[in-house]
Amino acid sequence: MAELVIVDRYGKEHRVEGRVGVSVMETLRDLDYGVAAICGGMCSCATCHIWVDEPWIAKLPARQGDEQELLQELGSFKPASRLSCQVVFTEALAGLKVAIAPDE
Ligand code: FES
Repeated sequence: MAELVIVDRYGKEHRVEGRVGVSVMETLRDLDYGVAAICGGMCSCATCHIWVDEPWIAKLPARQGDEQELLQELGSFKPASRLSCQVVFTEALAGLKVAIAPDE
């Protein structure tokens, strides 16, 4: 089991089993407090926006061009911002902590 720690939009922390081998978004969109992921992971909607807890940022592959461009258009963009559909969850990321960013 690889745990994912999620802080919802109200600041409440949840611990769930993350789906390994698929994007973090695939776990988050099944949760009531998760993300909408309207484009289904095509990197075109930004409704899967998360903030990655600081110690984990460097453990993730860097943002690619499309992801970077979409994120920078958001008012809630931070250095910790990622599109959860672009982050593949693996066993090595067990314990990954992310916060759900606000809807825009
Ligand atoms: S689900 Fe649309 S950008 Fe991630």
